[in-house]
Amino acid sequence: MSCLCLLLVAFVILCDHCHGGSGRSSEDHLLQRISSSKEGSSPLILEEPTQLVKTQWGEIRVLLRSPLLRKHNVGLGFITLRPRALLLPHYLDASFVFLVQQGSARIGWVDQQGELLRQDLSTGDVYAVAAGSLFYLLSTHEDEELKIYGLYDTSEAIDIESIKPFFIAGESNLFSGFGTRLVSAAFKVSEEGVAEFLRQQSSEAIIPTSVDAFAQLTSHLPEAWSWKNVASFLLNKKMHGRAPRPLSLTSSKRSFANQNGCFASTGGKKLPVLRKSRLGVSFVNLKNGALLAPHWNPQAMVVGVVTNGTGRIQIAHPNGTNALNRSLEEGTIFVVPRYFPNCELSSRDAPLKFLGFTVSDEYHGHGQLPQFLIGRSSVLDKLDMETLALSFNMPEELIASVLGAQQDENIFSMLESESEM
Ligand SMILES: *[C@@H]1O[C@H](CO)[C@@H](O)[C@H](O)[C@H]1NC(C)=O
Ligand SMILES: *[C@@H]1O[C@H](CO)[C@@H](O)[C@H](O)[C@H]1NC(C)=O
Ligand SMILES: *[C@@H]1O[C@H](CO)[C@@H](O)[C@H](O)[C@H]1NC(C)=O
Repeated sequence: MSCLCLLLVAFVILCDHCHGGSGRSSEDHLLQRISSSKEGSSPLILEEPTQLVKTQWGEIRVLLRSPLLRKHNVGLGFITLRPRALLLPHYLDASFVFLVQQGSARIGWVDQQGELLRQDLSTGDVYAVAAGSLFYLLSTHEDEELKIYGLYDTSEAIDIESIKPFFIAGESNLFSGFGTRLVSAAFKVSEEGVAEFLRQQSSEAIIPTSVDAFAQLTSHLPEAWSWKNVASFLLNKKMHGRAPRPLSLTSSKRSFANQNGCFASTGGKKLPVLRKSRLGVSFVNLKNGALLAPHWNPQAMVVGVVTNGTGRIQIAHPNGTNALNRSLEEGTIFVVPRYFPNCELSSRDAPLKFLGFTVSDEYHGHGQLPQFLIGRSSVLDKLDMETLALSFNMPEELIASVLGAQQDENIFSMLESESEM
């Protein structure tokens, strides 16, 4: 049991920022207000992301305007790069925590000490870039597209309803916002030279790379663990050129797995950029006809993105009415507000895979488990039998037989169950 607890501790991501008193009770009012404004649609199911950048070599789509995302100062970002395409160097007015959903990438960025750090990322890796930090992204798989799904923290953005990339090169580069004379004087290069310098790259945001350029860009990274760095480390000095390693969601360390499926999440501990963030990433993988037991998240709102398969989600209101009962398919984006009991299940004839971006509001000092209501690690089992018997107005033996019937933990098989959900 303690082992499970340890594993589950990783499920919720902590934050370092304190965003003072956004009244949690207002969530329900917000939900009510939004649902009454749009007949038939639920505020918990989000619309399609919109295009921020689209070129022949890739695109960036974002979702920022949804009221629930805005309330928590976050937005979703989906980046697609063709094989060998380069997302030009730029910085954002928001920090970005992301997962490599498909393909592989090399990211390069300039850290706070002014050093260029580079890191190779593969499918399942979670990484983060701080707001205002200059970075580029190269799609390094030779034939697979790079797909990145991520969450922006817009709490320090210029305008929380949009995301602003500042490119140093390309058609709309930031230098063009100054007078040519000024730029020319600053660079100590003739005006014609500057105009030429800024005009050569006529593409915007995403460009293809030639075979030669690609080979150079993907050349072997300098060994981070050089003897010089070991010495620095031992002398407690900063190590040069050493990028933080990504967190892998797909490597063997599953947070939880049984015969019906698995889930895993970032712990917020190992990746420095993530440690300072309110954001985290998790995934849930349900085999055919499986149910992720009803649970609530005590510390974070979850924004779910279905990446494969079909299924259903149900969310309950505090007053015991149903808040959401929707089918899920690839591309569905849903929100589970913090505290709201919810469960997700896969179709009988298809699996269900979704990412969960977790957003917490405050810094709690340690991660708290999602609280499961049913199954072998049910929180109800933690209560004393006398209280349960009184609360449910039932003899203890009957309570025990109800609570003991489900032998599985966290993810159940529904294949024997006759009833429709
Ligand atoms: C979804 O999963 C199926 C079966 O594993 C696979 O054939 C299909 O390509 C997947 N789709 C996506 C978008 O990953
Ligand atoms: C339960 O709460 C929801 C959300 O606040 C509200 O829309 C609904 O009318 C309530 N239902 C009852 C029966 O109180
Ligand atoms: C959820 O929707 C399904 C399919 O429409 C339906 O069979 C089921 O009764 C609904 N459950 C609730 C709690 O609304």
